[in-house]
Order: sequence, then structure tokens, then C-alpha cells
Amino acid sequence: MLSITDYLSENSEILKKELFELLRIPSISAQTEHEEDCRKTAEWLRDYFLKIGFSSQLFPVSTNHPMVYAESPFIPGAKTLLIYGHYDVQPVDPLELWETAPFEPVEKDGYLYGRGTSDDKGPLFTHIAAAKFWMSQENRPHLNVKFILEGDEESSGSATEIFVREHTDLLSCDYLALSDSTQFAPGCPSITCGLRGVAAYELTLFGPRQDLHSGMFGGAVTNPCTILMEILGEMHDSDRRITIPGFYDAVKRLSPEDEEQLRFLPFDDAAFFESAGVSGGIGEADMSVLERITTRPTFDINGITGGYQGEGGKTIIPAKASAKFTFRLVPNQDPEWLTAALSHWLEERIPEGIEMKLDVEGTSGGYLLDLDRPCMKAAAHAMEFGFGRSPFFVREGGSIPIVAAFSKLLTPNVMLLAYSQKTDNAHGPNEHFCLTDFWRGIKTNVKLWQELTALD
Ligand code: BES
Ligand code: MN
Ligand code: MN
Repeated sequence: MLSITDYLSENSEILKKELFELLRIPSISAQTEHEEDCRKTAEWLRDYFLKIGFSSQLFPVSTNHPMVYAESPFIPGAKTLLIYGHYDVQPVDPLELWETAPFEPVEKDGYLYGRGTSDDKGPLFTHIAAAKFWMSQENRPHLNVKFILEGDEESSGSATEIFVREHTDLLSCDYLALSDSTQFAPGCPSITCGLRGVAAYELTLFGPRQDLHSGMFGGAVTNPCTILMEILGEMHDSDRRITIPGFYDAVKRLSPEDEEQLRFLPFDDAAFFESAGVSGGIGEADMSVLERITTRPTFDINGITGGYQGEGGKTIIPAKASAKFTFRLVPNQDPEWLTAALSHWLEERIPEGIEMKLDVEGTSGGYLLDLDRPCMKAAAHAMEFGFGRSPFFVREGGSIPIVAAFSKLLTPNVMLLAYSQKTDNAHGPNEHFCLTDFWRGIKTNVKLWQELTALD
């Protein structure tokens, strides 16, 4: 058998070339003009799986982008590993901030640049490359491997969860692995052991039937922009805690072990703010920066629109105002409870002359992993092999909505192997992925197949 190290030194150019092909297709799920590109990406993946000897097909997903399903030639009696990833990417604007074109990937100083390099085509491809390696070997591990790759992760919605619910037989598995989270820091290989959930809303306030002259009507007609600011401004108290009654009821305090673990992680507040391009920041009182971004729920306004924003002035009372905002939720907080509590909280604050509309854009709960499972040790060994150092177990602030559903519907043996870095500019301009992490990821995945087989 060829060692994976030798395999990679012989095949690095071809693997990079293949990843570049995948990166070149602009699969932006949020924009309908890229619908065709999302389908092309799904087809590219399906064809790739067929080429390496997997069977593969696309599944239509209601109004959304197709799901790519693939499986290795069936080995009776073997355990099954399911690998998840998302082939869709975030929009690229503002385009002018990109130094190289987002969908013309390039390699520069040990990094791959382009939309999707880090989130999630690069990390996802490390698993596909591991499958390619094992399929080229005669004695591949006694393990059935399935892939389920979605094209809607970045634009939320619950289509994927519905798909999983309807296909629990097809997706049945003993273990589940994914790489869609970040390493704690460079040189700190990580297994993600917690994710936050996210609840996204759009609030629209309607005032007068049309824009009004503020000289003639101002002072008597309620201004929706003003009310929107007042209400959203009330969401935090002076300790920057969220004021919806009961919001923290389900939030658990950290156990002494969790606190110990957090203290043990090498986190530098100044470097963190520096990486965000700010000199510092405010947040929930009595919480460290690391707690604020991983173990605590938050509220963020993502965008506000309303009234006149064009050149010069315009003295009006605008007809409407709206805002998009999200809460990050920690494990045990129930997004459905939040939606009900939020709409009640908002309604109580809507004055005479304003109508409100609250749209729920998608919600998911937070997730905590059980570290005592044998597969976690297998994953840690695999990482040690791939990265040359045993991994940290860390909670993450980001959200992968489908993970909670997977663990409920398929298996609690979920392994989140983090390959990206927080500094990769995921969702931003000049997104990149460290090539060394790419190779390390492939080695880890290759080893994981073996380690899982050894658990039997
Ligand atoms: N890969 C990220 C999630 C992530 C990032 C998890 C870093 C852990 C660490 C994923 O693609 C993502 O962007 N998720 C969205 C979810 C939203 C669109 C429902 C998020 O977290 O904002
Ligand atoms: Mn992702
Ligand atoms: Mn993302």
C-alpha cells in the first residue's frame, strides 16, 4: 500500500487542479442568478464521485438546490461513516475589495485564494480526496462511506432538515464527520465540540401610507424609522444583556471544568480585536471575550433600511423602515420559544400609527458534543496523525444548522474536524485557505477511516 504521504507528494498538483475546478463554479446559493451554477457544482461533484468509483446521484430539494449523495461500494457488515459538507458559498460583494477574482482561484505564498476555499469547498474536498485515495488502494478500510453535500447552507432555510427527516434510511450511519468549522488558532488543531444556533428575523414597521412632508406631519404622525431605532435599542440593557424576559432562563452557567478548559486555551484579546480590525469592543458584562464569542447568546443587527438615503436632504416621515437581525443561541435555548417571545416583546412596543411585520428567516438550535464517545478518540488520533499534534476541543460561535438534526435523527457520533482558520476571511473578501491545512486535512481524513474501523 502506498502511504498517504507518498500519495500526496505524487498527486498534489492534480488534487489542487481538481479543487480549483470546483472553486471556479460560482455556487452562490442566496442569489437566484446562480441557480444554474449551484446545479453545475452538484453535477461536478456527482461526476467526480462516479469517477473515483462511488455511486452517486442528485436529489431535488423542494425549492432549493440539489443534494449530492454518494456512497462507496457496499461492504456487508461494515460500519458506516457519513460525511457532510456544503457546496454553496456566500455572495462576493463588495467585489472591489478582492485582490484576485473570487471565482478564479490562485495559489499565493502557501494559500489558496477564492470564494469557498475555506468555507466550505476546500475543507469539504479534503474528505473527497481521502475517498479518492482509499478507492485507489487495494485494501481500503472495512468501512462504508456515504457523502451528503448540500447547496443551501449559506442561505439557511429548513429544506435540508426536511430532506434528512425524509431520508433517514438512505443516510443511516454509525458515525458522521464534517469539516466546516475553524481551528482555535494556527498550530492548534481542533475538534469543535459545540456550536451556537442562530435565529434570523426581518422586522418591518409600516407608518403612513406614503412618505409625508415632515414639516406638515412631523410631531403628530409616528415615524417608523424612529420607532425601529427605539425598539432595537431596547434589546440590550446597560450590561449588554438581552432584555426579552426569560431569554437567559435556559442558558446554563459553565461547569467548573468548562471554565478551566476555557482558561487553558491560549486566547489573546488584543490579537482577536486586531484581527477584526478594531481597537477593542464592548459586550456582555462579566464575561471574557472568549466566552462572549462562544458560550453566550447574542443579538446582532445585520442591516437597517428606511427612509431617504440619497444625495442631499429630503424632509420626510418615511412610510416604512426595516431591519434584519439575528440571535446566536447556545445549547438548550429553544428558537421557537424565542420567536414567540420576540413577537410578543415587539408587539408590546408598537405605538399607535405603526403596523409591524415579523418574518422568520430561519432558526436553529445550539449544539454540544459528548466528548466521551469512542469515535472522539478515533478522531483525535486521526488529527494527531494529520497535524502532528493532538487536538484541542473547542466550542465555536458559528452555526451549522443541520448538525443538531443529524445527531437527533442519524447518530450522536458526530465529529467536527476543523481545518479552516478564523483568519481565512470566510464570508469576506479575499477568502483563503492554507495549503498546509489542506494536506493535513486529507491525511487526517485518510487516517480517520482506519481509526473508525479499529473501533469495532
Ligand atoms: N462554516 C460556517 C459555520 C461556522 C463557522 C461554524 C465557523 C463554526 C466556526 C457556516 O458555513 C456558516 O456560515 N453558517 C452560518 C449559518 C447561517 C447562514 C444559518 C453562520 O454561522 O452564520
Ligand atoms: Mn460553512
Ligand atoms: Mn459559511
